[in-house]
Amino acid sequence: MIFLINMKLTYKHLALLFTACMVPVGTFAEIVHISTPKTSLVVDAEKGKDAKFLYYGNKLSASEVDDLRSAGVPNLRIYPSYGMSTVSETAVGAVHADGNMTLDLVVDNVSRRKDGNRDVTTVALKDKHYPFFVNVNYGTYPDEDVIETWTEISHQEKGKVALTQFASGYLPVRYGDVWLSQLYGSWANEGRVDEAPLNHGMKVIKNKDGARNSHTSHGEVMLSLDGKARENEGRVIGAALCYSGNYKLRFDTDDSNYHHFFAGINEENSEYNLPKNEVFATPPLALTYSEEGLSGVSRNFHKWGRNHKLAHGDKQRKILLNSWEGVYFDINEEGMAQMMDDIASMGGELFVMDDGWFGVKYPRNNDSTSLGDWTVDTRKLPSGIQGLIDTAKKKGIKFGIWIEPEMTNTLSELYEKHPEYIIKPANREPNLGRGGTQLVLDLGNPKVQDLVFHVVDTLMTKYPELDYIKWDANAPIMNHGSQYLTSDNQSHLYIEYHRGFEKVLDRIRAKYPDVTIQACASGGGRANYGVLPWFDEFWVSDNTDALQRVYMQWGTSYFFPAIAMASHISAAPNHQTFRTIPLKYRIDVAMSGRLGMEIQPKNMTAEEIDMCRKAIAEYKDIRPVVQFGDIYRLLSPYDKKGAASLMYVTPEKDKAVYYWWKTETFANQQLPRVTMAGLDPDKNYKVHELNRIDNKPLSYEGKSFSGKFLMSNGLEMPLGHKVDYNKRNDYASRVLLLEEVK
Ligand code: GLA
Repeated sequence: MIFLINMKLTYKHLALLFTACMVPVGTFAEIVHISTPKTSLVVDAEKGKDAKFLYYGNKLSASEVDDLRSAGVPNLRIYPSYGMSTVSETAVGAVHADGNMTLDLVVDNVSRRKDGNRDVTTVALKDKHYPFFVNVNYGTYPDEDVIETWTEISHQEKGKVALTQFASGYLPVRYGDVWLSQLYGSWANEGRVDEAPLNHGMKVIKNKDGARNSHTSHGEVMLSLDGKARENEGRVIGAALCYSGNYKLRFDTDDSNYHHFFAGINEENSEYNLPKNEVFATPPLALTYSEEGLSGVSRNFHKWGRNHKLAHGDKQRKILLNSWEGVYFDINEEGMAQMMDDIASMGGELFVMDDGWFGVKYPRNNDSTSLGDWTVDTRKLPSGIQGLIDTAKKKGIKFGIWIEPEMTNTLSELYEKHPEYIIKPANREPNLGRGGTQLVLDLGNPKVQDLVFHVVDTLMTKYPELDYIKWDANAPIMNHGSQYLTSDNQSHLYIEYHRGFEKVLDRIRAKYPDVTIQACASGGGRANYGVLPWFDEFWVSDNTDALQRVYMQWGTSYFFPAIAMASHISAAPNHQTFRTIPLKYRIDVAMSGRLGMEIQPKNMTAEEIDMCRKAIAEYKDIRPVVQFGDIYRLLSPYDKKGAASLMYVTPEKDKAVYYWWKTETFANQQLPRVTMAGLDPDKNYKVHELNRIDNKPLSYEGKSFSGKFLMSNGLEMPLGHKVDYNKRNDYASRVLLLEEVK
């Protein structure tokens, strides 16, 4: 018998089962078909037997599901457990109260429930001998080609059971010419793409930062099933672990016919003592499948992300100026007013005051003091935050503020009062972070949770007009030790930190659902779907160099939509790379994400200000296309062909924005002509160049071309810009708006 989710029912007698809120399918279910509009995941869940994985891929019809077994399927469990098949990698491991180290999980029942707009199918497993239970859950949304899988682990043994491994999910991928696309990097160089075949042996991608998790590797990957990944063709599986703490992704290519993929919380130093009846829930692993290449997987993630994961995914983002690179710690009332004036005059909509505004006993003049002392420094800002909000209002813009509430410094009133709030091992002095003094607060401690909540609550209560919060986190957990947890539960530190973080965020969002919150963590340390349910966006990187951003934003766009990727126009020479990039190129790169500015406008020339004003006006026109459109990446900077190109297309395919950036310059170099993608072949599109600096328009300015032509031939991009001699430079970039001619 077949259990169908989100499909037209072919088995009428099962329809009845769908009406109740929690519907046990009990002994009827053998084959569980979890489906989305274009994909299927099939599990064999016969009561009393191992739950077996049968299929993940393109959508199957009911009869194809019926025939699956005869087509040859893996003999693999959906959630392999340790102990009775010790030679293989596993998803879950436990030491029972009596010391037994084995699990033997079989199907108890299958059920389905509605969870908001998500349909959840649960395959309940129980141990053959011990009262130990694992629910393997699969969540789907009616319009999304993403399946979220996670588990709930519990027991009723007398005494504690130690969980030694607790992956969120497992997926076998048929052995073949499978390529792994992953992101790697470092602070100021996040989101780099690495693509390589999955070879024999184990490949592990992990994080141990404790507090943040995406500066280096990412907890999201893609697996291209047909050899080296292509952008717009080929079968690709995408996987994103929705977690903001330590993670581990494992790929075991063993002597079987499968690559075995496991993803979940990193269990290293995190053994979890599970008391009787407590439910240990693992974070969701989001899976998607596309036959339209890497970009197809990205589109699936972006749509699901905007619709269901990130805060306010359906609301256009404001164009802002952030004060950091403009003034760093040099905050004062006059300076803030001038910046607000400047961004307002350029058409911006929001000003964000970054670090440096707080601290009474210890004024925050550099990064070595004051975190935790979130009281405005009236020596710098005599009219306080309200004064700034009033100024912003007068200029017709909104006001936002920077905080770093999970942290403190040894030089702070908070630390003096509450040294017991920091993360530190017993009998040892803690290692210190940024500024030589930074410490991480122990978010597992409910008192610390209250404190962090109150940082936001106090600001929002006092200044309800605050529109935006930049929430930073500039230190890893460097020392293992909680002053709150008992000595036998010290291994819970990392898990409890993120549980505490989520609890605080829940409270903040329950009370302040509308405020925009950016996840910044020394730049791109929190680019993950673990935090996005509470955050509107993240700061892609502390590196604002436009050329390096082409690479970083390219990689980040594999999993995250442009609406979530804060991308700012900054100064030249750039403050991180010291490279001098012309303003046109800096604008053209920033305009491919959530546009903002990170610069001191008073140091810009009138001509530069004017260019930014025009760019902001043009961005307002294309904002819905960029922020809600479908991405088609066209020419990768990582292919080293001298240029990079991508485009966004509206779902109606009536508008598109095309970006082209040269990535290296040689005289008379040969660059590939880029063919477009995602357009309607039968529609005609009129071409209009945005941010034009050339003395003459492009030859195709105002002309119309069919989608078919643009996708099979494309448009030639001139090697450089035709500008006056003294304005020439070695950069070139184009942004084209394509609009359907009706
Ligand atoms: C981090 C952030 C920056 C800035 C500084 C302030 O490095 O990533 O954008 O906010 O902190 O100290």
